Amino acid sequence: MARIAIVGPGAIGGTVAARLHATGNHEVCLCARTPRPPLEVTTPDGMLRGPAQVVTNPDAASLVDWILVATKTYDAAGAAGWIGRLGAAGAPVAILQNGVEHLARFSPFVPADRLVPVVVDLPAERQAPDRIRQRGPGRMTVPNGIRGEEFARLFAGTGITVTLTEDFTTAAWRKLCLNAAGVVSALVLQPAGIMRDPAMADVARDLVQEAIAVGRAEGAVLPDELVDEVIESYRRAPPDAINSLHADRLAGRPTEIEARNGVIVRLGARHGIPTPANRMAVALLAVIDTSKS
Ligand SMILES: NC(=O)c1ccc[n+]([C@@H]2O[C@H](COP(=O)([O-])OP(=O)(O)OC[C@H]3O[C@@H](n4cnc5c(N)ncnc54)[C@H](OP(=O)(O)O)[C@@H]3O)[C@@H](O)[C@H]2O)c1
Repeated sequence: MARIAIVGPGAIGGTVAARLHATGNHEVCLCARTPRPPLEVTTPDGMLRGPAQVVTNPDAASLVDWILVATKTYDAAGAAGWIGRLGAAGAPVAILQNGVEHLARFSPFVPADRLVPVVVDLPAERQAPDRIRQRGPGRMTVPNGIRGEEFARLFAGTGITVTLTEDFTTAAWRKLCLNAAGVVSALVLQPAGIMRDPAMADVARDLVQEAIAVGRAEGAVLPDELVDEVIESYRRAPPDAINSLHADRLAGRPTEIEARNGVIVRLGARHGIPTPANRMAVALLAVIDTSKS
């Protein structure tokens, strides 16, 4: 039985917590910013309840064996506020977030050898503070190694598949290439069906091609065909599917644009790779955000 703390019980954290709790193999604790009633998670396998244990004050948190961070990328500093207390005995810290900067984001707060970056493929949304819907199968990818193996063992019997990879850089950049194109929907406030429009698909192609060029410079192995794969995956998605950048904009929440497209611009500049499409997308979304306030 492992003691597991989930920092950030939103769509991903809440789903993962409910699934870990349902195995009966672990003691799961939710570390929440906002007090909430017990979670109900609707999954393709039926309804699950989240664990009863919810803490909202880091000073009241107890030592655990594993810390799973599932806040948005821009809430990393707040999430880190929990880690000192929960991980005082040296617990590993898994980062369940999008982007390619899991380690850079948390290494100011946690020694690198305790960090486990996680690529999350798990479509989930918060429908109310206490209700989450998992829309499809859950998969996660972690680097191969002792920590990765331990992390995978935690998820035995949860229905979430954990894959160990020798090349985490490539896994994270492949996901980023998919996410890079999602900014088109966020900008024009149109769901995935917008990629059936050839002009919009061309814009997305430029975004992904830049991501591929920068990813390769960072050491990822990304085939040219990935551009078409990404466009096809948006075109195959239900036309009314809304990606999280788009959903955050609709809900008036901050977006993860820095971790999704901003990183392509920043790392591109470091490698001398032009990224005009991503630069424009980041600038446009920033102006839209500023003009709201
Ligand atoms: N949702 C998906 O389908 C999906 C799929 C793949 C990857 N991802 C990635 O997974 C990560 C999490 O996304 P999400 O969709 O689960 O976000 P989310 O639903 O917004 O959940 C984030 C949670 O973090 C909490 N939080 C923020 N600061 C905190 C703090 N200091 N202490 C404790 N909790 C804190 C928020 O609390 P409040 O309730 O107070 O806001 C919220 O419950 C993101 O990087 C996202 O890109 C998401």
